Amino acid sequence: MVRKYALLAFAALPGCLGDKPASNACKKLKNEHPDKTYYGLDPRYINANTEYYSSSSWLGPACVFEPSNSTQMSDAVQALKAANSPFAIRGGGHMPIANAANINSSGVLLSSFGLNQLKLSDDHSTVNVGPGNRWSDIYKYLEPYGLTVVGGRLGHVGVPGYILGGGVSYLSNEYGWASANVASVTGVLADGKVVKATPENEYSDLFWALRGGSSSFALVTNFELKTIKAPTVMIGMASYGSDVAEQFIDAVHSFTTEGSKDAKAATIPMAEYIPALGKPAYSAILFYNGVDEKPAALKSFLESDMKVTSNTFSNRSMSKWCKELDPALSLLKGSKQRFYVLNIHASNKQAITIVHDTFMKVAKESLPLGVLVAALAFPAVTEKFITASTANGGDPQSLDVNGAPYIWVEESITSAGLVDDKDVDAFYEKANGQIVKNLQAAGIETAKFIYLNDANPSQDAFGTFPPENLERLKAIRAKYDPDRVFTDLMPGGWKLA
Ligand SMILES: Cc1cc2nc3c(=O)[nH]c(=O)nc-3n(C[C@H](O)[C@H](O)[C@H](O)COP(=O)(O)OP(=O)(O)OC[C@H]3O[C@@H](n4cnc5c(N)ncnc54)[C@H](O)[C@@H]3O)c2cc1C
Ligand SMILES: *[C@@H]1O[C@H](CO)[C@@H](O)[C@H](O)[C@H]1NC(C)=O
Ligand SMILES: *[C@@H]1O[C@H](CO)[C@@H](O)[C@H](O)[C@H]1NC(C)=O
Ligand SMILES: *[C@@H]1O[C@H](CO)[C@@H](O)[C@H](O)[C@H]1NC(C)=O
Repeated sequence: MVRKYALLAFAALPGCLGDKPASNACKKLKNEHPDKTYYGLDPRYINANTEYYSSSSWLGPACVFEPSNSTQMSDAVQALKAANSPFAIRGGGHMPIANAANINSSGVLLSSFGLNQLKLSDDHSTVNVGPGNRWSDIYKYLEPYGLTVVGGRLGHVGVPGYILGGGVSYLSNEYGWASANVASVTGVLADGKVVKATPENEYSDLFWALRGGSSSFALVTNFELKTIKAPTVMIGMASYGSDVAEQFIDAVHSFTTEGSKDAKAATIPMAEYIPALGKPAYSAILFYNGVDEKPAALKSFLESDMKVTSNTFSNRSMSKWCKELDPALSLLKGSKQRFYVLNIHASNKQAITIVHDTFMKVAKESLPLGVLVAALAFPAVTEKFITASTANGGDPQSLDVNGAPYIWVEESITSAGLVDDKDVDAFYEKANGQIVKNLQAAGIETAKFIYLNDANPSQDAFGTFPPENLERLKAIRAKYDPDRVFTDLMPGGWKLA
């Protein structure tokens, strides 16, 4: 018995039992970059292995390598290839899929944390951003200049995964995907070469692929983001209590079909089922790119029949907003999260009602024990979002403007650390199966596109891209990574087939 437990303790100690190729790669990296290579008991290793949005990602890599410039990232790619060692790369760690941005002791974790540069250009039109930053770091850095960028809606979120998937911002109804507002991306190719891709230069094909094709093409070491003048915005959260389902759905529908025609407005309406209460609670994050305290566009949420129990909508910088909300996100450390996304055409209010009612019914009946919150968010994706996204060389998603406005219903489940992702996925399968069935019975088709940054691993996000774009992405991968290093040796996350 004693021996058995001793063995278990040993196995649980991350970094001690690395597979041969991984431990060879770690040794080489430790030799060449002793101060950038961390093993299991180093606090920097522990931080890189546990600073994830879902604790399912605490996989315990053989070692962590944390480059502080492109040359060191290139060294790592070459060492990993030479050792034939599996690896993963992490940014903010917000993709709530266990191995998306981490790997177990069979591989090496490349951390973006050391690449945390922030530098505004001389004319203030762009800012260079390292992938180790969170959005809150960028908003804070830009605040004294009265500038912002098309970026994360919550400051805690990481930069690289977000942009490589496209990136939905409060400013997206005005400026499109975050990726439509990137001037250049610098990254390491599979052969170790460091390149800077822009919409116009010889790497414009790579640039296009990085605008939504995720992690199969290059390891990004710098994003150059276009800045936007907005010293303050109107932003806040309004809460409506529990017994307002019908009015809430009215507000979501009215904002999506009418209010959102004013491109400066954005909302994240939320319906959160809390098992401990046995009922949902309703709230909405409200945003307006201006100083108007009562923008007409947000009327359905600010001046509705719903009783407002609290409301923080007011004039402040994005940095200040992040400081208010980030502490709550930090409290989630150690818990588990899981996403699923459902795309509907918003013009039909019945579609919103069916999604809401069915989800809440199934949540009440069959959420696994240990779930703390099962939430629906209803952000609008407007026609302007889609047309603005064709700037900057266009994007691989090429959303169909004809179906707009859409609501990308973000389903997210937060659980205690001991809940198994499999049980949460079983719930998602049941709930979404019934939702689709009920929609079909009402003669309503779901919309096609699935946003990979909000998707469950069971969803075929790439399969919803236009087929010709998918072929082009594959050709670009074959050109820049013929050996499929970033696909086969770096298997986590969203990969092209
Ligand atoms: C609380 C919360 C709020 C969110 N809000 C938004 C939102 O407002 N808008 C939105 O669009 N999405 C949002 N998301 C989804 C978010 O876009 C994704 O989770 C995204 O992947 C996060 O980026 P990251 O760098 O933190 O991800 P990570 O989990 O670190 O990485 C995601 C993927 O990118 C790859 N990757 C990481 N770094 C690099 C690199 N340097 N080079 C190449 N590949 C890399 C990883 O290998 C992985 O496959 C949110 C998620 C959470 C949890
Ligand atoms: C990266 O950092 C190393 C160590 O400080 C340095 O020797 C090298 O020149 C740097 N490379 C670049 C491109 O800055
Ligand atoms: C590590 O992950 C790989 C791939 O998922 C798996 O085959 C292997 O069994 C895992 N190893 C350990 C020690 O968990
Ligand atoms: C918004 O905030 C800025 C900065 O604090 C301030 O200068 C401006 O007057 C405010 N505008 C309104 C309408 O309150």
